Amino acid sequence: MDRWKGRVALVTGASVGIGAAIAKSLVQHGMKVVGCARNLQQMENLAAECVSIGFSGTLFPYKCDLSVEDEVLSMFSWIKVQHQGIDVCINNAGLALPEPLLSGKTSGWKNMMDVNVIGLSVCVREAYQSMKERNIDDGHIININSMSGHRVINNADVHFYTASKYAVTALTEGLRQELREAKTHIRATCISPGLVETEFAYRLFSQNQEKAAASYKSIKCLQADDIANAAVYVLSAPPHVQNLAAECVSSGFSGTLFPYKCDLSVEDEVLSMFSWIKVQHQGIDVCINNAGLALPEPLLSGKTSGWKNMMDVNVFGLSVCTREAYQSMKGGHMCGHRVLHNADLHFYTASKYAVTALTEGLRQELREAKTHIRATSISPGLVETELTYRLFSQNPEKAAATYKSMKCLQADDIANAVVYVLSAPPHVQIGDIQMRPVEQLT
Ligand SMILES: NC(=O)c1ccc[n+]([C@@H]2O[C@H](COP(=O)([O-])OP(=O)(O)OC[C@H]3O[C@@H](n4cnc5c(N)ncnc54)[C@H](OP(=O)(O)O)[C@@H]3O)[C@@H](O)[C@H]2O)c1
Repeated sequence: MDRWKGRVALVTGASVGIGAAIAKSLVQHGMKVVGCARNLQQMENLAAECVSIGFSGTLFPYKCDLSVEDEVLSMFSWIKVQHQGIDVCINNAGLALPEPLLSGKTSGWKNMMDVNVIGLSVCVREAYQSMKERNIDDGHIININSMSGHRVINNADVHFYTASKYAVTALTEGLRQELREAKTHIRATCISPGLVETEFAYRLFSQNQEKAAASYKSIKCLQADDIANAAVYVLSAPPHVQNLAAECVSSGFSGTLFPYKCDLSVEDEVLSMFSWIKVQHQGIDVCINNAGLALPEPLLSGKTSGWKNMMDVNVFGLSVCTREAYQSMKGGHMCGHRVLHNADLHFYTASKYAVTALTEGLRQELREAKTHIRATSISPGLVETELTYRLFSQNPEKAAATYKSMKCLQADDIANAVVYVLSAPPHVQIGDIQMRPVEQLT
């Protein structure tokens, strides 16, 4: 986070909940944070708390109703005068009102759209213009979305809210594409939490506080700090990680790498490996299914053997490891963690779609098995590795050109994501991390 010290972030909805936690965390990392919300007093209390703890950054509270465009524009003018402009924009403010589609009030629907979609979009536009006029090329726009931006649950109270969050999903992807077309390296990220214990449900069910409290008692919820940690992870430059056995030893790392020769497309070899692990190390606590390959075998003219090879490694090998890993963890009552690997070619893509479905299915099976073992998928865009050289083994120039077309992700960036996933506290399951090179269009 060092590169963000002294730079300016806007966090919307900073009076309570997730926004307050993010604002506090960025102040802790030395940023100048403009927090906005309608309740000024709560933000002033938070600013005083940051001062009394001795954080190196500063929180500047600003009263603003995001549903009123003039107030948002005045805030950006004030930021320009006071702080020149912003480098990071975290669009967090949002609300849900219990207004079903068949019986809800139009005013409630408009309120949700005004804050969750229009307010967010005005902030995105103004933040981009602020970065552009100061030639800021490394800025970051983070939208706090929701799992509700990705699936519709059968609850009439939140259908309209869900629609507003689907809009955030589309807007973030659209923003990423507009930024690439504008030839800037400003990044756009969505963070999509599940249930977080904040004021959110109490505001949603303002007529029925018991119902709100019950929703947070139903499971061990995410906490606002968990989302703040995700925002800090997103903003952090990845550290350099060395990852070969010999290098691990000579670098004095405290862990040890045990190399094991195994062809994942041969089930017997995989089972022997798990037996060996059991004898040598009792079992495993974490399983990272990373192995995978792409072969240039189109659907209309490809070789069946190539398709089978991709399925054997990318899907069957992964599934066998998953099953054996689960059995190993189950026996030892361990709280484990699996990380699957996902990427962007037709048959290869199909194998990765299978991984997506398998990860979600696995997550459901794990919940039904009443275990806290977690399942996560990491979905990178173009990573500079041997994959493309193996894919285009007859044409290395083509492979090299792919990696020269943009500044690609590096393997260390994915390792960094794995470390982040494993570092999350036990009640937090990072479902999917999608990461792409800043310059990758789709
Ligand atoms: N809690 C969850 O389970 C959950 C799950 C997934 C996603 N999220 C998302 O996370 C974000 C933050 O939610 P939260 O859980 O922290 O909720 P929260 O505790 O209710 O806080 C909402 C924040 O938004 C601000 N806000 C609401 N309307 C505003 C307006 N018109 N103008 C300015 N600020 C406004 C509120 O400030 P004032 O009232 O002071 O204006 C408050 O700071 C939202 O986008 C929400 O959709 C929450």
